[in-house]
Amino acid sequence: MSETENTASFWDELTSPINLALVAVIVYLVYKIIQSKFERETEAAPPPPPMPKLRKDLTVAELKKYDGTQPDGRVLLAVNGVIFDVTRGKRFYGPGGPYAAFAGKDATRGLATGQVSGSEQEYDDVSDLTQEEQYSANEWEAQFREKYDIVGRLLKPGETPSKYSDDESEDKKEK
Ligand code: HEM
Repeated sequence: MSETENTASFWDELTSPINLALVAVIVYLVYKIIQSKFERETEAAPPPPPMPKLRKDLTVAELKKYDGTQPDGRVLLAVNGVIFDVTRGKRFYGPGGPYAAFAGKDATRGLATGQVSGSEQEYDDVSDLTQEEQYSANEWEAQFREKYDIVGRLLKPGETPSKYSDDESEDKKEK
Protein backbone atom coordinates (compact mmCIF):
# COMPACT_ATOMS: atom_id res chain seq x y z
CA MET A 1 0.00 0.00 0.00
CA SER A 2 1.47 3.37 -0.99
CA GLU A 3 1.59 6.41 1.30
CA THR A 4 -0.86 8.43 -0.82
CA GLU A 5 -3.39 5.65 -0.55
CA ASN A 6 -3.04 5.64 3.24
CA THR A 7 -3.51 9.40 3.54
CA ALA A 8 -6.52 9.32 1.29
CA SER A 9 -8.23 6.62 3.31
CA PHE A 10 -7.52 8.49 6.55
CA TRP A 11 -9.04 11.65 5.05
CA ASP A 12 -12.00 9.69 3.73
CA GLU A 13 -12.61 8.27 7.17
CA LEU A 14 -12.36 11.64 8.89
CA THR A 15 -14.87 13.21 6.58
CA SER A 16 -17.22 10.27 6.65
CA PRO A 17 -20.81 11.31 7.54
CA ILE A 18 -20.76 9.53 10.91
CA ASN A 19 -17.59 11.32 12.02
CA LEU A 20 -18.82 14.68 10.83
CA ALA A 21 -22.01 14.09 12.81
CA LEU A 22 -19.95 13.21 15.93
CA VAL A 23 -17.83 16.35 15.54
CA ALA A 24 -21.02 18.41 15.26
CA VAL A 25 -22.39 16.83 18.48
CA ILE A 26 -19.12 17.53 20.35
CA VAL A 27 -19.03 21.15 19.17
CA TYR A 28 -22.67 21.60 20.23
CA LEU A 29 -22.05 20.10 23.71
CA VAL A 30 -18.94 22.24 24.30
CA TYR A 31 -20.96 25.30 23.27
CA LYS A 32 -23.74 24.37 25.74
CA ILE A 33 -21.27 23.83 28.60
CA ILE A 34 -19.63 27.20 28.03
CA GLN A 35 -23.02 28.89 27.71
CA SER A 36 -24.36 27.39 30.98
CA LYS A 37 -21.20 28.43 32.87
CA PHE A 38 -21.57 31.98 31.60
CA GLU A 39 -25.26 32.08 32.57
CA ARG A 40 -24.56 30.81 36.09
CA GLU A 41 -21.99 33.56 36.62
CA THR A 42 -24.22 36.35 35.35
CA GLU A 43 -27.39 35.14 37.10
CA ALA A 44 -25.85 34.68 40.58
CA ALA A 45 -27.64 37.07 42.93
CA PRO A 46 -25.44 39.38 44.98
CA PRO A 47 -25.12 38.20 48.61
CA PRO A 48 -27.54 39.96 50.98
CA PRO A 49 -25.97 42.71 53.10
CA PRO A 50 -24.95 41.43 56.55
CA MET A 51 -27.46 42.11 59.31
CA PRO A 52 -26.28 44.90 61.62
CA LYS A 53 -25.18 43.70 65.06
CA LEU A 54 -27.69 44.23 67.84
CA ARG A 55 -26.26 45.15 71.23
CA LYS A 56 -28.97 45.67 73.80
CA ASP A 57 -30.36 44.36 77.08
CA LEU A 58 -33.96 43.26 76.71
CA THR A 59 -36.85 42.33 78.95
CA VAL A 60 -38.65 39.03 78.42
CA ALA A 61 -41.48 40.97 76.71
CA GLU A 62 -39.04 42.76 74.37
CA LEU A 63 -37.22 39.53 73.56
CA LYS A 64 -40.49 37.93 72.45
CA LYS A 65 -40.73 39.79 69.13
CA TYR A 66 -37.39 38.42 67.93
CA ASP A 67 -38.77 35.04 66.93
CA GLY A 68 -37.88 35.34 63.26
CA THR A 69 -41.34 36.41 62.09
CA GLN A 70 -40.41 40.10 61.74
CA PRO A 71 -39.41 41.39 58.27
CA ASP A 72 -35.69 41.36 59.16
CA GLY A 73 -36.01 37.74 60.31
CA ARG A 74 -33.78 38.23 63.34
CA VAL A 75 -33.92 35.41 65.90
CA LEU A 76 -32.78 35.80 69.51
CA LEU A 77 -32.92 33.51 72.50
CA ALA A 78 -31.64 33.65 76.06
CA VAL A 79 -29.71 31.11 78.12
CA ASN A 80 -28.68 31.76 81.74
CA GLY A 81 -29.65 35.43 81.38
CA VAL A 82 -27.49 35.99 78.28
CA ILE A 83 -29.25 36.90 75.01
CA PHE A 84 -27.76 35.44 71.83
CA ASP A 85 -28.39 36.34 68.21
CA VAL A 86 -29.08 32.93 66.69
CA THR A 87 -30.21 34.26 63.29
CA ARG A 88 -27.39 32.24 61.69
CA GLY A 89 -29.07 29.12 63.04
CA LYS A 90 -32.40 30.05 61.50
CA ARG A 91 -32.90 26.55 60.13
CA PHE A 92 -33.07 25.41 63.78
CA TYR A 93 -34.95 28.31 65.41
CA GLY A 94 -36.78 30.07 62.58
CA PRO A 95 -40.52 29.67 61.98
CA GLY A 96 -41.24 26.00 61.31
CA GLY A 97 -37.78 24.92 62.53
CA PRO A 98 -37.36 22.04 65.01
CA TYR A 99 -36.39 24.42 67.84
CA ALA A 100 -38.68 27.35 66.95
CA ALA A 101 -40.15 27.08 70.48
CA PHE A 102 -36.92 28.66 71.81
CA ALA A 103 -37.06 31.65 69.44
CA GLY A 104 -37.65 34.94 71.24
CA LYS A 105 -37.71 33.11 74.57
CA ASP A 106 -35.67 32.30 77.63
CA ALA A 107 -34.59 28.79 76.64
CA THR A 108 -32.69 28.00 79.88
CA ARG A 109 -35.22 25.65 81.49
CA GLY A 110 -36.04 23.86 78.23
CA LEU A 111 -32.40 23.26 77.32
CA ALA A 112 -31.56 22.20 80.87
CA THR A 113 -34.41 19.70 81.13
CA GLY A 114 -34.45 18.47 77.52
CA GLN A 115 -37.84 19.95 76.66
CA VAL A 116 -38.15 21.89 73.45
CA SER A 117 -40.18 24.74 74.95
CA GLY A 118 -39.27 28.27 75.91
CA SER A 119 -40.30 29.85 79.17
CA GLU A 120 -43.72 31.55 79.18
CA GLN A 121 -43.10 33.23 82.54
CA GLU A 122 -42.51 36.96 83.00
CA TYR A 123 -39.08 36.04 84.30
CA ASP A 124 -38.04 32.45 84.85
CA ASP A 125 -35.97 32.20 88.01
CA VAL A 126 -34.25 28.91 87.29
CA SER A 127 -32.75 28.47 90.76
CA ASP A 128 -34.94 25.37 91.29
CA LEU A 129 -33.08 23.42 88.60
CA THR A 130 -31.08 20.44 89.82
CA GLN A 131 -27.29 20.60 89.74
CA GLU A 132 -27.27 18.33 86.73
CA GLU A 133 -29.75 20.56 84.90
CA GLN A 134 -27.75 23.67 85.75
CA TYR A 135 -24.65 21.94 84.42
CA SER A 136 -26.53 21.19 81.20
CA ALA A 137 -27.67 24.82 80.90
CA ASN A 138 -24.06 25.95 81.39
CA GLU A 139 -22.90 23.59 78.65
CA TRP A 140 -25.50 25.04 76.27
CA GLU A 141 -24.47 28.59 77.20
CA ALA A 142 -20.82 27.74 76.46
CA GLN A 143 -21.83 26.29 73.09
CA PHE A 144 -23.83 29.39 72.20
CA ARG A 145 -20.94 31.66 73.24
CA GLU A 146 -18.73 29.76 70.79
CA LYS A 147 -21.15 29.95 67.91
CA TYR A 148 -23.28 33.09 68.21
CA ASP A 149 -23.00 36.82 68.96
CA ILE A 150 -24.07 38.11 72.35
CA VAL A 151 -26.80 40.75 72.20
CA GLY A 152 -27.01 41.59 75.90
CA ARG A 153 -28.54 40.52 79.19
CA LEU A 154 -32.08 39.33 79.81
CA LEU A 155 -33.48 41.88 82.25
CA LYS A 156 -35.27 40.86 85.43
CA PRO A 157 -38.35 42.97 86.24
CA GLY A 158 -37.14 46.33 87.56
CA GLU A 159 -33.58 45.99 86.17
CA THR A 160 -32.29 48.78 83.96
CA PRO A 161 -30.55 48.12 80.64
CA SER A 162 -26.81 48.75 80.30
CA LYS A 163 -25.54 51.29 77.78
CA TYR A 164 -23.56 49.84 74.91
CA SER A 165 -21.68 51.83 72.28
CA ASP A 166 -23.07 51.56 68.72
CA ASP A 167 -20.19 49.43 67.62
CA GLU A 168 -17.86 48.16 70.28
CA SER A 169 -15.31 46.97 67.75
CA GLU A 170 -14.69 50.56 66.68
CA ASP A 171 -12.68 51.85 69.62
CA LYS A 172 -12.36 55.31 68.10
CA LYS A 173 -16.04 55.89 68.74
CA GLU A 174 -15.62 55.19 72.45
CA LYS A 175 -14.23 58.31 74.08
C1 HEM B 1 -34.19 12.66 69.51
C2 HEM B 1 -33.57 13.70 70.03
C3 HEM B 1 -32.79 14.69 69.25
C4 HEM B 1 -32.15 14.59 68.07
C5 HEM B 1 -32.04 13.38 67.16
C6 HEM B 1 -31.53 15.88 67.79
C7 HEM B 1 -30.79 16.17 66.68
C8 HEM B 1 -30.22 17.39 66.40
C9 HEM B 1 -29.43 17.70 65.25
C10 HEM B 1 -29.09 16.70 64.12
C11 HEM B 1 -29.06 18.96 65.34
C12 HEM B 1 -28.24 19.72 64.28
C13 HEM B 1 -26.80 19.83 64.70
C14 HEM B 1 -26.02 20.67 63.70
O1 HEM B 1 -26.25 20.60 62.50
O2 HEM B 1 -25.13 21.42 64.15
C15 HEM B 1 -29.61 19.49 66.56
C16 HEM B 1 -29.45 20.77 66.98
C17 HEM B 1 -29.97 21.27 68.15
N1 HEM B 1 -30.65 20.55 69.11
FE1 HEM B 1 -31.27 18.67 68.94
N2 HEM B 1 -31.82 16.71 68.81
C18 HEM B 1 -32.58 16.03 69.73
C19 HEM B 1 -33.08 16.51 70.91
C20 HEM B 1 -32.89 17.78 71.38
C21 HEM B 1 -33.38 18.27 72.65
C22 HEM B 1 -34.17 17.44 73.68
C23 HEM B 1 -32.99 19.57 72.74
C24 HEM B 1 -33.19 20.57 73.85
C25 HEM B 1 -34.21 20.59 74.62
C26 HEM B 1 -32.25 19.89 71.52
C27 HEM B 1 -31.73 21.10 71.23
C28 HEM B 1 -31.02 21.41 70.08
C29 HEM B 1 -30.58 22.75 69.76
C30 HEM B 1 -30.78 24.00 70.59
C31 HEM B 1 -29.91 22.66 68.54
C32 HEM B 1 -29.29 23.79 67.74
C33 HEM B 1 -27.90 24.09 68.24
C34 HEM B 1 -27.28 25.25 67.47
O3 HEM B 1 -27.82 26.36 67.45
O4 HEM B 1 -26.20 25.04 66.92
N3 HEM B 1 -32.21 18.79 70.73
N4 HEM B 1 -30.31 18.52 67.18
